[in-house]
Amino acid sequence: MGSTSRREFLKLSAGSVSALVLGAGAKDSAAEPVYRTPGTIDRFIDPLPIPEKLKPYEARKDAEFYRVRMVEFRKQLHSQLPPTKLWGYDGQYPGPTFEAMRGRRVEVRWENHLPLQHLLPVDTRIHGAMPPAPAVRAVPHLHGSRTDSFSDGLPEKWFAPGGSVRYEYPNEQQPATLWYHDHAMGITRLNVYAGLSGFYLLRDQRELSMSLPSGRYEIPLSLQDRMLDDDGQLVYAPTRDDGVPVPKGTWGPQFFGSLPVVNGAVCPYLDVEPRPYRLRVLNACNGRFFNLYLNLAKNPADIPALVRFRQIGSDGGLLEKPAPLEQVLLAPAERADLIVDFSGLEEKTVTLSNSARAPYPGWTLLRALYAPLLELMQFRVTLPKTGTGKTFSLPAAIELPRMKASDAVKTRDFVLSESMDDKGNSLGMHINGKEYADATTEFPKLGSTEMWRFINTTDDTHPMHLHLVQFQILERRGFDFGTFVRQQGKVQLVGSSRPPAPNEAGWKDTAIVNPHEVLTILVRFEGYKGRYVYHCHMAEHEDNDMMRPFEVVA
Ligand code: C2O
Ligand code: CU
Ligand code: CU
Repeated sequence: MGSTSRREFLKLSAGSVSALVLGAGAKDSAAEPVYRTPGTIDRFIDPLPIPEKLKPYEARKDAEFYRVRMVEFRKQLHSQLPPTKLWGYDGQYPGPTFEAMRGRRVEVRWENHLPLQHLLPVDTRIHGAMPPAPAVRAVPHLHGSRTDSFSDGLPEKWFAPGGSVRYEYPNEQQPATLWYHDHAMGITRLNVYAGLSGFYLLRDQRELSMSLPSGRYEIPLSLQDRMLDDDGQLVYAPTRDDGVPVPKGTWGPQFFGSLPVVNGAVCPYLDVEPRPYRLRVLNACNGRFFNLYLNLAKNPADIPALVRFRQIGSDGGLLEKPAPLEQVLLAPAERADLIVDFSGLEEKTVTLSNSARAPYPGWTLLRALYAPLLELMQFRVTLPKTGTGKTFSLPAAIELPRMKASDAVKTRDFVLSESMDDKGNSLGMHINGKEYADATTEFPKLGSTEMWRFINTTDDTHPMHLHLVQFQILERRGFDFGTFVRQQGKVQLVGSSRPPAPNEAGWKDTAIVNPHEVLTILVRFEGYKGRYVYHCHMAEHEDNDMMRPFEVVA
């Protein structure tokens, strides 16, 4: 179908949808809404947007000062779609990119200029979203940064439209692909979905001297999934775990969009030169996992022809040495710093593809509940190779001190669970059976190292994230679920211990724990005393109690 006939088809189907809705009258549940899918637009016709670099209003040797406003605005996510109403930092989606230097403090005045009405329905039964809390609240968090508790953007530190805060980011940590996003209590999933997220690239002199691809050869990729109605407007329609939609406007444990959105564009393309590129990939979805690969095959159903690549960095900075990969799994909030070499692929098209099921991993499901997003964007190797420039080289091995289990002065266990009613409705997600508002139970000592074990009793994989720290993965291992149930939560490890794969063996701030497995991490609580949080980074889960506070004490 050419683009004209496809548009005709769209008009036709739009007409029939409204007829259906009108005909259904009061019982609108009878009319299944039709959402945009990749099949209803022409894919790969819009260029990949690159988020703008944010400019400081004042720059000193030791500090830079920024002002960022959160506003509502409209933007076309695809050239065949009407403009979408969004929320964005400085009116951009994704937000503008911070370029920060290690040792140079960044101060940001974050201002909430959002309207008084939320863009999406707010479920006021969720903790933190209950009246008298205003519907529109926001608080930005710099994910992955080692920041004082005051500037961390804790969920309860939200401010309403008209309000602002001044946060300070010391940038005293390894250079890394960080990102910032909203974290307001009970509505994080809605605020982030509305558009409130962006990149924060922290660099240092050593990395700048490494001759990694830079400038137009360094591309940040914020991967998201969105659901749009026929007018191109955002739809947030979560479901139960079995895929059944929850009543309109209420919380549900799962949400997956039907359209891939990269840097704010649906199915874009990027023209590239036959040379190495550095891709800073972020999974900025609410709940969707991506198992990414680069495919030369024309059709997702063809046998894939893979382009191999290297991962040079994880959440918290460079790996000890580059890890050669054919695919990379990224859960919500995880980042991968990749080197992709398009040399020798002149005239070829490389499609960034995904094979992860939704929900992930979907082991217990007989059939997939949601269509996978098979293809996200295309790289077209069409540009002539310009500039001889510096020859590219992979980073030389850097030293990365490995933490040992014996470094840990304390072990803490965290059981992840989901409460259900007898009709199959989720009542919320929990850590050790507790809610976010329950009294703090974890008080790690400043400067100490601890072992944290996440024990997953659910059927979903959860990406677990800690504020303040970058940690290391010690192992993943199964546990005997029968014993766990019969002996009141006794964790009997089974199977063999799986150390982190090379691309996970560096600094992490988010790591996945699979169903009926234990994820063990080693964490040094460095930097600051005070209150922080840890949580599952599926936004639906963190909003409904799969989040708990911890307090670093002297
Ligand atoms: Cu990405 Cu609590 O954060
Ligand atoms: Cu965070
Ligand atoms: Cu979760």
